[in-house]
Amino acid sequence: PFVAQVIIKTFMGVYSQFVRPLLFHLDPERVHNLAIGALSTGLIGDWRYEHKLLEQEILGVKFRNPLGLAAGFDKNGVGVAHWHHMGFGFVEIGTVTFHSQPGNPKPRLFRLEKDFALINRMGFNNVGAERMARRLTGVHASIPVGINYGKSKITDLADAPKDYQQSFRLLQDYGLYAVINVSSPNTPGLRSLQEKGPLIEIIEAFRSVRRDKPLFVKVSPDLETGALDDVIAVAHEQQLSGLIATNTTVSRRDLKSTTSEDGGLSGFPLRERSNEVLAYLRSSCDPRMILMGVGGIFNGKDLYDKIALGAHLAQVYTGWVYGGPDMAARTLKQFVGLARQTGVRSLDELRGSGKTL
Ligand code: FNR
Repeated sequence: PFVAQVIIKTFMGVYSQFVRPLLFHLDPERVHNLAIGALSTGLIGDWRYEHKLLEQEILGVKFRNPLGLAAGFDKNGVGVAHWHHMGFGFVEIGTVTFHSQPGNPKPRLFRLEKDFALINRMGFNNVGAERMARRLTGVHASIPVGINYGKSKITDLADAPKDYQQSFRLLQDYGLYAVINVSSPNTPGLRSLQEKGPLIEIIEAFRSVRRDKPLFVKVSPDLETGALDDVIAVAHEQQLSGLIATNTTVSRRDLKSTTSEDGGLSGFPLRERSNEVLAYLRSSCDPRMILMGVGGIFNGKDLYDKIALGAHLAQVYTGWVYGGPDMAARTLKQFVGLARQTGVRSLDELRGSGKTL
């Protein structure tokens, strides 16, 4: 195993020069499946970076670092026992729906290499809440896990609360926190559930199952200020634990690549808008509201900025695809270096200071 580790480390150590170019010749979804497969067999090695400055307690639980894997990568929770090897401080699995569903026809995942971006219209392909619950039984995760819930495609929008509730009923005993995903652009009408009335109904559906599970809502970067204000008002009225900003965008502004693919855009082109939404949430929310910043993190500076703008925790998807298995460790190490340079001694001290780099 030691020799294998050395070989893996050497091979992946040159990820961006050699491995990524090879992988990027293959179909993106195939590479994704290879990565998930490799992870669950422990074949991508161990990439961790630990530092006292990165530790904090949130929701009564210790987080070894503030960088998590965003929802959508491990939709079925197959890697829950392994993600800490990739250096993540936590992982959000899902989106899971009550009914298992195949998602949209392939191809449905596209790389925009010039933009360090992805476009996806996966459409919540997943095994369904029941199989996820069975899979999670008896599995030990050594980092906190969140479960991200969506609406099944076959369920009418009007019946959405019940659909979310049925999933949550099956999965309520798993995970530290639950996320109501009403911001994916790839399920028709889903984002209309961010409106006050429907959103409250969904929250109440969760609460009727049990009240002690920390609840988050994940918002779209495409909401106008007024709509964002409505979500913020609901979050306070309903005493949510926090908000996650943001999901992918349908905007195609400022792209270098030419593309006509439909779906949600993520990665570098999303960063600015995501940060704007995060800063707006911080300025309008009670300081106790836990914010997670996601969108366009590629390095330590991007992570630093998310926390400076008010995030307690951050998540990454696209930056991990481009950065390779050591992305989290590298990012965290850079972050600690930057904190030292700027005289920041704790995450608390940096959070919400507005002092971005
Ligand atoms: C996603 N994302 C996502 N979000 C979510 O809440 N549920 C999901 O199932 C998915 N699925 C998904 C698939 C793919 C292929 C991508 C690229 C993204 C959105 C993701 O969690 C994140 O919010 C955005 O991608 C922005 O972060 P990055 O990618 O810029 O770091």
